[in-house]
Amino acid sequence: MAAESGTESEAPVGLGAEVYAEHCAVCHGEDGRGKTELSDRFTVAPRDFVRAEYRFRSTASGKLPTDEDLRRSVVHGLGGTAMVPQNHLSSAEVDAVVAFIESLSPRFAEEKRAKPLKLPAETPKTESSLSRGREVYLEAGCDGCHGDSGAGDGRNAKDLSQAPTDLTRHPLKGGSTASDIVRAVVTGLNGTPMPSYHLLFDDDDFWALAYYVESLGEDRGLTDQARLGWEIEKRTPPE
Ligand code: HEC
Ligand code: HEC
Repeated sequence: MAAESGTESEAPVGLGAEVYAEHCAVCHGEDGRGKTELSDRFTVAPRDFVRAEYRFRSTASGKLPTDEDLRRSVVHGLGGTAMVPQNHLSSAEVDAVVAFIESLSPRFAEEKRAKPLKLPAETPKTESSLSRGREVYLEAGCDGCHGDSGAGDGRNAKDLSQAPTDLTRHPLKGGSTASDIVRAVVTGLNGTPMPSYHLLFDDDDFWALAYYVESLGEDRGLTDQARLGWEIEKRTPPE
């Protein structure tokens, strides 16, 4: 496959292709399109690396992710999904597999790589942050999709192409800390109804909102059971 993609240097792609074949192809498919006989077992299909519409980014809406964004998703996984942390890989293997999945899409060769958006300056959590965060949540209309209590049952939820996250169930896919939440709200999630709110609130309000959303769920960490992605998505493992 490496030869077909027209990549010039064989060496780094060689390691990336090996890691990919061994640890990723079972779900993302040999051609990286995310379609395998397992696809319909997932709530959200494994990402299509040819389309390269990445969700958990530090870059503006519609843009490609940075290498660091992809490394984060690979190493930490996407909480609560079958995309479990691939933290058994060495950092050289992670770099190689990131380069490999980028080589699967012409977008990485054709488009100018975007820089991370400047995130709102962190403000400390105070007694009033949670109540202010709740106000911002309602004023911004987060409840329309995520619901009044954050349970993912807002009045518009049924009309969406993808179910809004139940924000009371942590871990969240892109990470559950306030700074992970700020990043998701600022950049939005490409290819989903989750919009980008870049520059729409004051810095303090972004953080108050994130502290509020963070407080809705408790991160229980990853249990041994949960490490088996199948169990998390409540699907039966393949034979
Ligand atoms: C057990 C199945 C499984 C395996 C193995 C797996 N993934 Fe995934 N991966 C998924 C699923 C499912 C998603 C989409 C989850 C979602 O968005 O809810 C995903 C999403 C991703 C994303 C998308 C992040 C974003 O910002 O949109 C990246 C990158 C990724 N996987 C890389 C990899 C790499 C690299 C490997 C191998 C080292 C790998 N995956 C192995 C199932 C898997
Ligand atoms: C139009 C509907 C819609 C609105 C409005 C909306 N969201 Fe979302 N949001 C979504 C959907 C759908 C997802 C799930 C994407 C996924 O799982 O890939 C999501 C995902 C998220 C995530 C990432 C969860 C994770 O697993 O990492 C956070 C955090 C979030 N939303 C917070 C908010 C906040 C705060 C607001 C208001 C400022 C908001 N959303 C407004 C639809 C919406």
